[in-house]
Amino acid sequence: MSILIAYASKHGCTAQCAEMLAEKFDEKVDLYDLRSGKSMDLSQYEKVIVGSSVYVGKVNKEATEFCTNNLEILKNKKIGLFICGSQEGESLKQELAAAYPPELQSKAIILDCFGGAYTFGKMSFMEKTIVKVIAKTNKDTSTIQEDKINSFAQALKNA
Ligand SMILES: Cc1cc2nc3c(=O)[nH]c(=O)nc-3n(C[C@H](O)[C@H](O)[C@H](O)COP(=O)(O)O)c2cc1C
Repeated sequence: MSILIAYASKHGCTAQCAEMLAEKFDEKVDLYDLRSGKSMDLSQYEKVIVGSSVYVGKVNKEATEFCTNNLEILKNKKIGLFICGSQEGESLKQELAAAYPPELQSKAIILDCFGGAYTFGKMSFMEKTIVKVIAKTNKDTSTIQEDKINSFAQALKNA
């Protein structure tokens, strides 16, 4: 069995979650940075996990393109989907529902949000301003939920 985690991260939180998730499996897991511009042969993987952060309600374009361009191949894999973001409750439900193509979501073993992180040192001036206004903070914060990463890995292991 082989597992791929394909992730799109702007400031490192999703990359960190992808690495944390990879460590939960006993077997080797390959990590694929979708923003690296490299191509990837998906045929060797039985399970494919896609993760992306959310900005202004949308997952990163590299994650959308990866899902759209490989939809037929991905539909025949065991799929897990996650996002990283700061929303909770009803807004998070809406965000999750819109994150990935419906054809993929309906096939996914699990879809979840692992929480998010604000790293001010990596943000543009505009991003800092938005976060200060919306999240009312100017301090680095992390709401990564490891319990969710554990449950996510377990669901994939059982699949
Ligand atoms: C400018 C900006 C806009 C954001 N918009 C959203 C959003 O619409 N929904 C959300 O859940 N999180 C939003 N976030 C929070 C990010 O998704 C969160 O910080 C995430 O962990 C970033 O992951 P990354 O470091 O992998 O890119 C936003 C963050 C910034 C800086």
